[in-house]
Amino acid sequence: MTDSQNVLVCVAWPYANGPRHIGHVAGFGVPSDVFARYQRMRGKNVLMVSGTDEHGTPLLVQADKEGVTVKELADRYNRQIVEDLAGLGLSYDLFTRTTTRNHYAVVQELFRGLYDNGYMVKETTQGAISPSTGRTLPDRYIEGTCPICGATDARGDQCDTCGNQLDPADLINPVSKINGETPEFVETEHFLLDLPALHDALEEWLRGREDWRPNVLKFSLNLLEDMRPRAMTRDIDWGIPVPVEGWEDNPSKKLYVWFDAVVGYLSASIEWAHRSGDPEAWKAWWQDSATEGYYFMGKDNITFHSQIWPAELLGYAGRGAKGGMAGELGELNLPTEVVSSEFLTMSGSKFSSSKGVVIYVKDFLAEFGPDPLRYFIAVAGPENNDTDFTWDEFVRRVNNELANGWGNLVNRTVSMAHKNFGQVPAPGPLTDADQRILKLAEETFESAGADLHRAHFKAAITKIMHVVGEANAYIAEMEPWRLAKDDAQRERLATVLWTALQVVSDCNAMLTPFLPHTAQRVHETLGRTGVWAAEPRVEDVVDDAEHTADYNLVGVGLPEEGQTYPIITGDYTAEQAVWERVEVTPGTELSKPQPLIAKLDPELGETGPEWAPVQ
Ligand code: MF3
Ligand code: ZN
Repeated sequence: MTDSQNVLVCVAWPYANGPRHIGHVAGFGVPSDVFARYQRMRGKNVLMVSGTDEHGTPLLVQADKEGVTVKELADRYNRQIVEDLAGLGLSYDLFTRTTTRNHYAVVQELFRGLYDNGYMVKETTQGAISPSTGRTLPDRYIEGTCPICGATDARGDQCDTCGNQLDPADLINPVSKINGETPEFVETEHFLLDLPALHDALEEWLRGREDWRPNVLKFSLNLLEDMRPRAMTRDIDWGIPVPVEGWEDNPSKKLYVWFDAVVGYLSASIEWAHRSGDPEAWKAWWQDSATEGYYFMGKDNITFHSQIWPAELLGYAGRGAKGGMAGELGELNLPTEVVSSEFLTMSGSKFSSSKGVVIYVKDFLAEFGPDPLRYFIAVAGPENNDTDFTWDEFVRRVNNELANGWGNLVNRTVSMAHKNFGQVPAPGPLTDADQRILKLAEETFESAGADLHRAHFKAAITKIMHVVGEANAYIAEMEPWRLAKDDAQRERLATVLWTALQVVSDCNAMLTPFLPHTAQRVHETLGRTGVWAAEPRVEDVVDDAEHTADYNLVGVGLPEEGQTYPIITGDYTAEQAVWERVEVTPGTELSKPQPLIAKLDPELGETGPEWAPVQ
């Protein structure tokens, strides 16, 4: 892996069709933020972008259910999701939405480039409609047997069992999930992305990716086996107009939600540049081939990031079998790595809002704050396997590892230093034991850092928490409380506490990407000032011409100019956090520390909270 100065962190766009649960943020949210914060601590120029995904049938169906317009639904959940993600401390440079004029303009530009290069082909296809209502039946709402693996619960867009993409007309015994009737198929025209023409270019790109997580790479290589053209337009009245003459003004033909959503990484980068006052600034992350781009998501999104999005980019650049040339946005970087998580379940079941098997981020934050959840996801989340969230394990980890392990280390170290010296004491000569623990802490910057660089979060936090454990063992062995009783041992006491304070400082630096809120408090507890770990903020902004890429925006049903919406952004470059030892300075004044991590009532492990009781 190279080591570029600019790092693009692309985070999957959550659908604005409901509040987010902890399964969602375990997949895309916490991993991406840990990674971005780590990269910033190493002095990298990070651009971290995402937003809410607001088109497609998931929004339409939910709006119908709630009896509101799609726009009302999107506005409501966009705001809710913004608050949830900011509350969790996810440090986006820009978290925006797909219903902005800028996004529409950039998506249409991508489509046009693909079309001009010949990679969008018009075909007559079989579209499903509901015989009882005459309305188009969205792919996702048709179920049937997978023609490839025989699973009986395949959807019209994809089979989750074998991971293959499907068309509704492929399904054996298709039925409508909405009312159980058998759909009818009628002829309808669509634009298809010519994936076969991009196959070789995709394969060449994928073959060079050997350091991806093995499951993601294997899945992605598999997709190359059966590549057929995929429809990138839909019979739907909610979405981005198709920028082709005769199509743009048709209110019931729109771009497929997945065609537009993945372009969001690019459009959000462009919006960020406009908002930061340098409209060209996005290019450093997209056109400089040395820049690395990491994409974070749950495993159900892999296809769209390791096949559809790279194919869109290759076709736009004219790099497929049909040739062509790069459009106005130039030749754009493909992903360096697609980092995907597996699924988080809850006490053995899939999260399901309708069945009440769900833990909403909002409720979780209100009761426990962000860092306990961030910790749990990092240490016990679905990095490589589906994993289960239980209240029992949550309580155990918070109490044993965070409170008794980390909180206690900080608390007793600073308390004793404060009580005996009122400040960071100056050390005398170091013993082997002192040197050993200092060396372990210092070396862990390198070893845990290497893990973080490869998005191996569990390995990294395990190493860091090992240092915490060793530091507690060091204190137990040195018994500073006994040294404190003997005036003759004053220098030794100072040395032990200085050593422990240095190790606390080191561990705090390394825990910063995982526990940024706690890290800021430990920074202050160590007598330091200013911002160590910066937090995101929510801001209301206006969708106006100044913040819209001036490509040719066409068609009906465009977002109104001048709408106000909330974004997440932040000033992260001002933070002090660095991924290396910061020396503790003798003489720094210390005050009596406040408890760092609240212990949870063990009964919570058995019952769960009222809003998500153990069933
Ligand atoms: N909205 C999709 C989901 O929740 C994810 C879209 S990721 C994107 O599954 F980047 F493509 F937008
Ligand atoms: Zn299948």
